[in-house]
Amino acid sequence: MATFPEYIAQNEERDGVRFSWNVWPSSRLEATRMVVPVAALFTPLKERPDLPPIQYEPVLCSRATCRAVLNPLCQVDYRAKLWACNFCYQRNQFPPSYAGISEVNQPAELLPQFSTIEYVVQRGPQMPLVFLYVVDTCMEDEDLQALKESLQMSLSLLPPTALVGLITFGRMVQVHELGCEGISKSYVFRGTKDLNAKQLQEMLGLTKPSATQGRGPQTAQQPLSNRFLQPVQKIDMNLTDLLGELQRDPWPVTQGKRPLRSLGVAMSIAVGLLECTFPNTGARIMTFIGGPATQGPGMVVGDELKTPIRSWHDIEKDNAKFMKKATKHYESLANRASTNGHIIDIYACALDQTGLLEMKCCANYTGGYMVMADSFNTSLFKQTFQRVFTKDVQGSFKMAFAATLEVKEIGTGGTCQWKICGLDPSTTLALYFEVVNQHNAPIPQGGRGAIQFVTQYQHSSGQRRIRVTTTARNWADAQTQIQSIAASFDQEAAAILMARLAVYRAETEEGPDVLRWLDRQLIRLVRGPGLKPGSGLRGSETDFMFHLRRSPFLQVFNNSPDESSYYRHQFNRQDLTQALIMIQPVLYAYSFNGPPEPVLLDSSSILPDRILLMDTFFQILIYHGETVAQWRKAGYQDMPEYENFKHLLQAPVDDAQELLHTRFPMPRYIDTEHGGSQARFLLSKVNPSQTHNNMYAWGQESGAPILTDDVSLQVFMDHLKKLAVSSAA
Ligand SMILES: *[C@@H]1O[C@H](CO)[C@@H](O)[C@H](O)[C@H]1NC(C)=O
Ligand SMILES: *[C@@H]1O[C@H](CO)[C@@H](O)[C@H](O)[C@H]1NC(C)=O
Ligand SMILES: *[C@@H]1O[C@H](CO)[C@@H](O)[C@H](O)[C@H]1NC(C)=O
Ligand SMILES: [Zn+2]
Repeated sequence: MATFPEYIAQNEERDGVRFSWNVWPSSRLEATRMVVPVAALFTPLKERPDLPPIQYEPVLCSRATCRAVLNPLCQVDYRAKLWACNFCYQRNQFPPSYAGISEVNQPAELLPQFSTIEYVVQRGPQMPLVFLYVVDTCMEDEDLQALKESLQMSLSLLPPTALVGLITFGRMVQVHELGCEGISKSYVFRGTKDLNAKQLQEMLGLTKPSATQGRGPQTAQQPLSNRFLQPVQKIDMNLTDLLGELQRDPWPVTQGKRPLRSLGVAMSIAVGLLECTFPNTGARIMTFIGGPATQGPGMVVGDELKTPIRSWHDIEKDNAKFMKKATKHYESLANRASTNGHIIDIYACALDQTGLLEMKCCANYTGGYMVMADSFNTSLFKQTFQRVFTKDVQGSFKMAFAATLEVKEIGTGGTCQWKICGLDPSTTLALYFEVVNQHNAPIPQGGRGAIQFVTQYQHSSGQRRIRVTTTARNWADAQTQIQSIAASFDQEAAAILMARLAVYRAETEEGPDVLRWLDRQLIRLVRGPGLKPGSGLRGSETDFMFHLRRSPFLQVFNNSPDESSYYRHQFNRQDLTQALIMIQPVLYAYSFNGPPEPVLLDSSSILPDRILLMDTFFQILIYHGETVAQWRKAGYQDMPEYENFKHLLQAPVDDAQELLHTRFPMPRYIDTEHGGSQARFLLSKVNPSQTHNNMYAWGQESGAPILTDDVSLQVFMDHLKKLAVSSAA
């Protein structure tokens, strides 16, 4: 029998699932005592190159309220050609096409190795993918030039049959008609007045795809399209020209003013255009923003430069004039897009805030990307945008459209369903379960709890697909089998699941309350939930909570509201490994004393003769210790006799490149040294074990002191332990 760590790794590999507990307590009371809930991190489209999709459709349980999919956990009567649903116990007849099945001739979905399986839906038309570009033109020439080049590049990466459209905006909003003969034409809208779908439909003369068009198979000659959304293969030359000719917004901007930017109406028109023409079809609205919306619905700041955009301080003082109204505007757009299965991506590239706080729901509700950079002329933006179009070995995009997730749980008989819209192979969701059995009526011993995840989506090939993951865990009585429940604990998954809960609270409640809540959970954990008598939390878990507490996901004072929204958005969608790095960055040391090694995220790791490589997910930082920095300044690396120093300098650079090549979004790359201004990024992450309060321990060899008001991990732990003892009832 495999050990629990092996079992956890196998399950993650095969099903993309990690549970906080891999043996479940059999009653509600016991479950609530365990502090960490029974919960799962689930990656619906985890890459499984070894799993070719099967070319038929799933067999469903006939009970209307269940509709669970036939799976390896179902009991099958081969002679009577019946199967019993393992969620609602309904007995179902196999469909006629399964007449030939027997013990030795089982369909794939009954084999244990197919606990995750993907079906291709044969019915219905193959729908084209739709990409609608929404482009801000109020930006510096350098940014606009770089953005235009990126957009032109992206056209060459789209499948020839994909439909594309272009909306540009500044003071006005322009919807470009594509594929008209000769001169380019566009419809111009005021940026101060919102339009509902019906008004837009009339003004643009739009018609929904007719019933016959929607149902029959599409031929290459007459794909679904309209004047605003045309197949790439037909108009890519003309659109490339059109993009090339884009100019900065021509309206003059007077001294001391911001440009008038009609972002809210532009996005509304984009949502409305797709709503009218391609409801329930995979579509991406890609929004490129060079600054905040300054007029019309969705404006987040006025056009007077002397009045800055809202800060956390303003929000706290209820002094963020536009925030609520703007948020409402974007929420309503996000809801409409989500209803139609459409994705909204936001690429915000500007030095100042652009309103991500107000707009975050657009990416959140629709599974869209949110990318933040200082400028469009940065590799952060360019590389990240290019990576959106990454293809798998079959040549398909690694993005899924119009996705929904359904979860079926044993016992409840019901299901929960969510619209996700956009998914990629790393998108990871957190699901929290409740054990509902009462203490006096626990689930019978020896039983297994099952959960089925049904993910339906539009594959980038146009096919509709259904991925089904069915997984089960043992129930156990927490009184008598405490050891086996405790042994099944997945501390990494639990840490991220608790962190997601904390971030959720931070988004919806006041700051200090969240930290207090987190500390209460920690105290309960330190005290031990009765699971691990005497030991309580393991050291590495408290370290993690210490870093979570200080992380930008919970602490906002060092970040703008936009930055907080951005960091939290990434944290909420990345997989477990990436999320762990975000909270507890990884630190590697390079020196002449041996091969590179991971070192503690602690100020004592900062030594003069070391180079450090820190990965925070958002940043890849190389820090040269004092002596190394001096040698580098003196140019030792260029002298043949110090070739080993040259290699030492190069090693972290090579390792950083590897990380930069694979990550999405692309991280910020920082090269700094002892005393460098950017060294603050490192100093703000390490545990301040040596602060100026206990500087007597500071010497040449013992690491760098940190200027901070933060308490160190040691002080934090001591405090927690005291609280745990004093509050123990
Ligand atoms: C973009 O940045 C690069 C390097 O920073 C610079 O050489 C280039 O001229 C910039 N592009 C534009 C259009 O200004
Ligand atoms: C593309 O542009 C050319 C030259 O301006 C024009 O003749 C042609 O009609 C355009 N084609 C489409 C499909 O718009
Ligand atoms: C969307 O926002 C909610 C509420 O803050 C959060 O719990 C969820 O994880 C977010 N999802 C994504 C994909 O950002
Ligand atoms: Zn059923």
